[in-house]
Amino acid sequence: MFPTNSEPNNADDLQQALVEALIRPDHRISPIWFYDQRGSALFEDITQLPSYYPTRTEISILDENLDAIAKAIGSDRLVVELGSGSSRKTVPLLKALDRPSGYIPVDISADYLHQAAADLSKQLPNLPVMALVADFTTAFSLPPSLPAHRNRLGFFPGSTIGNLSESEAQSLLEHCHEVLGDEAAFLIGVDLDKSPEVLIPAYDDPEGVTAEFNRNLLKRINHELGLAIDVQAFAHEARYLTDPARIEMHLVALTDQTLAVAGQTYTLAAGESFHTETSHKYTIKGFSQLAKQAGWQLTQYWCDAQNHFAVLLLKATART
Ligand code: AVI
Repeated sequence: MFPTNSEPNNADDLQQALVEALIRPDHRISPIWFYDQRGSALFEDITQLPSYYPTRTEISILDENLDAIAKAIGSDRLVVELGSGSSRKTVPLLKALDRPSGYIPVDISADYLHQAAADLSKQLPNLPVMALVADFTTAFSLPPSLPAHRNRLGFFPGSTIGNLSESEAQSLLEHCHEVLGDEAAFLIGVDLDKSPEVLIPAYDDPEGVTAEFNRNLLKRINHELGLAIDVQAFAHEARYLTDPARIEMHLVALTDQTLAVAGQTYTLAAGESFHTETSHKYTIKGFSQLAKQAGWQLTQYWCDAQNHFAVLLLKATART
């Protein structure tokens, strides 16, 4: 589910994911498969689009409230970032914090992670940085060599948590509570529910970049599995749905499709779709309830003037 750096990648896993999607009635496939090299570049392009408000809104919330955020977080924190960090968000935060004791970016892609960690070290030469190669969507742990540190800050920007189901999001937050400890804080970017008039163009931009990002999944499948899916026979669609509020991205078959995968034939009738991504949209109340169930209490949050996006500061509640 995670952008730019996730590489669960081998062709056998992709083939299995495709076959499972074809068999499932909802034809859902994980969005982790978006992020091959081309998909990661397209995601970067999406973040620059006028209609895709989340990235620039989160950056401006962080920029405008940096001092207040740093003050609320407190001193001497060891910062553990889920994902290897967009330096646009991470460096200003680390610079604003009072005496951060270190920085641990956690990411599944070793190459990307080490490069990002090296770049960050150049900008913050006195900060101890320890890159941790791990899939933070499954159980991860901090290196045992790390001194017992009671003062940790989880940092998870980008509203990537929205790409998890609510139960997956809760498990991730529970696990972070376990890893970061009872005295931890957690700074997280969350995209808020809003009018479909804003949401739909964010996921179906007039420039067609998100459509290309979505269809790139089929190109990747063709390329890596040696298939010949007719990419143009699928239309990109962004749907706004409620209960829970979310955008779903689909690739809708325009005509009946027959796909031969690993010696088996599967069909997708015209109008059926691959469900390629869900992006949950929260309210502050809804997200704080979810966090509470996972052992985190909302202490403060910052929004943009239009309440499109929120950066929330959570504090770990003691486990009983
Ligand atoms: C990575 N993630 C938070 C993005 C989102 O908004 O759900 C992925 C994305 N999909 C389409 N546009 C952007």
